[in-house]
Amino acid sequence: MKNEDLRIKIDYNNMLTSAVGENGIEEEKLLAMKGELFSALERVNSKRDKLRWRELYITERKNIERINETAAWVRESAEYFVVLGIGGSALGPAAVHQALRHQHYNELPREKRNGPKFYVEDNVDPERMAALLDIIDLDKTVFNVITKSGSTGETMSQLLIVTRLLLDRYGEEGLKDHIIATTDSSKGNLIGIAEKYNLRTFIVPDGVGGRFSELCPVGLVAAAVCGADIGKLLDGAEFMDGLCSNEDVLKNPALVSAALEVLAMEKGANISVLMPYADSLKYMADWYAQLWAESLGKKKTVDGKLVRVGQTPVKALGVTDQHSQVQLYTDGPFDKTITFIRVEKYRTEYAIPHAYDDIPNVAFLSGHTLNELISAECRATEHAVTVSGHMNKTIIVPEVNEFTVGELLMLFEMQTAFAGELLGIDAFDQPGVEEGKNATYALLGKKGYEDKLAELQKAGKKNERFII
Ligand code: PA5
Repeated sequence: MKNEDLRIKIDYNNMLTSAVGENGIEEEKLLAMKGELFSALERVNSKRDKLRWRELYITERKNIERINETAAWVRESAEYFVVLGIGGSALGPAAVHQALRHQHYNELPREKRNGPKFYVEDNVDPERMAALLDIIDLDKTVFNVITKSGSTGETMSQLLIVTRLLLDRYGEEGLKDHIIATTDSSKGNLIGIAEKYNLRTFIVPDGVGGRFSELCPVGLVAAAVCGADIGKLLDGAEFMDGLCSNEDVLKNPALVSAALEVLAMEKGANISVLMPYADSLKYMADWYAQLWAESLGKKKTVDGKLVRVGQTPVKALGVTDQHSQVQLYTDGPFDKTITFIRVEKYRTEYAIPHAYDDIPNVAFLSGHTLNELISAECRATEHAVTVSGHMNKTIIVPEVNEFTVGELLMLFEMQTAFAGELLGIDAFDQPGVEEGKNATYALLGKKGYEDKLAELQKAGKKNERFII
């Protein structure tokens, strides 16, 4: 298929007053932003240092061979492949795996899978860790520990647990057969550990923040292990970056989409729902939620002005959440935008057979396909939301494959970068997350965090009165 045939498009008609009435955006407002959009594009283009993720489709090509070699080794030697990471170091690998592989991948017999069973462990719930260790066979497991900073407490705790188990069973020499490290080239502690134990190591390049890191080894190693064509992921990202570089700004999908969300925020739409009509893209909504929330949820502009901006992302799945959330999207407050993802061609066609032809209210479904049904439901929900006056747009994906997943990742990343620019905030830091990390270190007695511990103890005493 030609790249152009796999091009993702955005239909934003239903964001405008012409479609949804007074609670929409006047088209004139969007048109009047042309100059502002152009300078946002120029500013984003000039921030190369913070946007190294935008060049990953160039810089990572040289790593494809090594990543594929490592993936082949994992496929040969392991029955279980476990990602240990959190946030940007976990959501991308999970999203891409879900998008590209069988929906019940781990339950397939080995000969039908493209690789070992796949797990992303992004929590430190002791029950979950114990459950994982219950089901894997350590002898046949490769862990990919991923932490850009090389010091995140959750990931390092997981690493400590598996390292102890591995050391007890195989000694120091054995670690390299069971752990792959993905981290910064110099910062943090993981790189030192990787060097000491001679682990296979992949580097998260400078200027690639956690939530923007899917197209570097953070995501590419896991994708390759499960048999995805990682070159095509990069091709899709490259293609989308071309579209998102369009200086004819009203034809630039990420820029227009960012502008519409920012205009919607000005109208009080502080919630952003992402609702793919495909189970394969369910975790893509999780990945997007982190990207959008952590990048745009900011107190101050880059000039220090108090703004408190950001949209709360909500993950929804079509059609499942039609029976859970859509009532709120139609009749509830005008505080949200809804982005549907419509898939034009699913990888499977499934016919709805005849069985109850004597019951007309059931029989009308027979002779159609599940494909027709899910597509009709997507269009029907777009319609219901539109006639109830709620802003919505639809991302149209020709089919879900490596190329279009690469496009989607780049589209959302560029939209986030542009939205940050239009809001005047730094989309690439996460001071709130760092605050939480520091407080955890203090509570667990890390050296250098004594003042933070005192602050927490003081706050704890004050709050005790409200515990019942
Ligand atoms: O986007 C981010 O920077 C964060 O969500 C990080 O990905 C997350 O905190 C994990 O950090 P690290 O990869 O350094 O362990």
